[in-house]
Amino acid sequence: MTLILALETSCDDTCAAVITTGGELRSNVISSQGIHDAYGGVVPEIASRHHLELANAAVDDALRRAAATLDDVGLVAVTQGPGLVGALLVGVATAKAIAAARGLALAPVDHLQGHVAANFLRIGGAAPIMEPPFVCLLASGGHTLLARVERHDGFEVLGRTLDDAAGEAFDKGARLLGLPFPGGPALERLARDGDPQAFAFPIARNLEGLDFSFAGVKTSLLYRVRDLGADVARERAADLAASFQTAIVEALALRCAQALERTGLDRLAIGGGVAANGPLRARLGELGVTLGIPPRELCTDNAAMIASAARYVEPLAFPDYLALDAYASGERALA
Ligand code: KG4
Ligand code: ZN
Repeated sequence: MTLILALETSCDDTCAAVITTGGELRSNVISSQGIHDAYGGVVPEIASRHHLELANAAVDDALRRAAATLDDVGLVAVTQGPGLVGALLVGVATAKAIAAARGLALAPVDHLQGHVAANFLRIGGAAPIMEPPFVCLLASGGHTLLARVERHDGFEVLGRTLDDAAGEAFDKGARLLGLPFPGGPALERLARDGDPQAFAFPIARNLEGLDFSFAGVKTSLLYRVRDLGADVARERAADLAASFQTAIVEALALRCAQALERTGLDRLAIGGGVAANGPLRARLGELGVTLGIPPRELCTDNAAMIASAARYVEPLAFPDYLALDAYASGERALA
């Protein structure tokens, strides 16, 4: 009874993972639902249906890869929110069923806390990627915020995006450049052949505090593509992608530097899908502080991070979680 089994189904990835109660990663299964590419974005109802089809197989696979069975599991964890509520409900119902069948406790986990907690994982017997205190940049498709992490079980928000999330900006920018969804990885690939200085895109600098804004850079790309015309924009797509990516990376790096200065902390961790971005990872390396950079598969949505966060959540004993509900929005909404 030394393992934690976790499920994460907040968006379009059906994820299950196993870690030890000491935070050592044992398996991390991520089944991406390629189906949404055809629609240019995640279709919530389709995501829920696919979670339903994939959840049990993902759990089986996670246990198999961990060389474990349910007999070895002492705690079941699941993302409770925020996310697509129908998608979340599939994970919550599956986790409840597994836990109830075994009389196990269940830990409801906040998705954002999960992204932070990816940094507490140990891989291959190594020390945790990062331990508090640190500043954490969370940049995903739905959220972009800077957190001050002093404890394992919560964080203080120092600043957040006032409009689009960084991942959303990548996705919308990619769409303008005719790239497939999800846009971040595709735009990063295209940008490798481009000149990051070819076009100047705006970086929102004069905001209050440590907030972000990505609506301007997205609109600026829209106008630039229009001004160039379809043919030239297609020819210059790599330059546009590289320049656009640079503006987002610089905006994120600028705020990270300011957050480190304001908090007096010299340790920076990152999480969320955008943290998988190579140029962002390289740019943050230039800040001259201790960096906590999880492997890419622990930055994008995964269940290992949910298992990791569950180590610091008060678990609900059977049968207290049977009426547990998912929540679609908000942060740290655990009641
Ligand atoms: O954390 P995540 O997997 O799901 C959410 O909770 O949103 O983040 C997904 C977001 C998408 O917007 C995707 O385009 C972006 O992360 N992303 C990237 C990269 N990989 C994923 N953005 C930039 N560069 C990448 N390599
Ligand atoms: Zn996420």
